[in-house]
Amino acid sequence: MTQDELKQAVARAAIKYVPAGSIIGVGTGSTANFFIDELGAATGLIRGAVASSEATAARLRKHGIAVMDLNEVDTLPVYVDGADEIDAGLSMIKGGGGALTREKIVAAVARTFVCIADASKRVALLGRFPLPIEVIPMARAYVERQVRAMGYEPRLRTGFTTDNGNVILDVHGMQIENPGELERRLNDIVGVVTNGLFARRGADVALIGGPEGVIELKRPQ
Ligand code: 5RP
Repeated sequence: MTQDELKQAVARAAIKYVPAGSIIGVGTGSTANFFIDELGAATGLIRGAVASSEATAARLRKHGIAVMDLNEVDTLPVYVDGADEIDAGLSMIKGGGGALTREKIVAAVARTFVCIADASKRVALLGRFPLPIEVIPMARAYVERQVRAMGYEPRLRTGFTTDNGNVILDVHGMQIENPGELERRLNDIVGVVTNGLFARRGADVALIGGPEGVIELKRPQ
């Protein structure tokens, strides 16, 4: 199976987590795009969706799915999104597409986070994929210095602005032993909007697509 076929398989498997008639949260990226296409094919399944990026909102609308403002919605039964890396505890690195802040906000509101990913995203230790940090532009150099002082190597994602008008620093060369603690420490730096570690609120369920089919993992209690 190709990587795209694996992404499509997990996207299809995620449909069973979508309650009929609900408003759900939808992530960003190529795997999330397959999920949006599955939602589009399941005509009338949902009442609407909250999008984690402008790109996702546009794709949902193209399928005729109503895009809601998160401020108009109290709860979301489920949030479905991809990941750049996911570990055995279902902590993730996200934000390869730069949508990490809105993704984290929508995920915070959702009761259940379903991560959909092909098996290449499974890792023993997070950090090989550069960890994105969204930063207010005027704080870029300060945040870079603070991250360097922690022993890491931040690099500005050139030519990229987030949907929120901010910049991204990608932190290379990490081996993240305690993702929850690092998530908190990075977010404590003034000027950081958020970082791409999803550990404090990780996934509840992961649907992982590999040659043996789609396997379902649950977050350890
Ligand atoms: C975007 C994300 C994506 O979920 C992540 O980058 C995975 O993308 P893809 O499904 O294309 O591999 O966090 O900000």
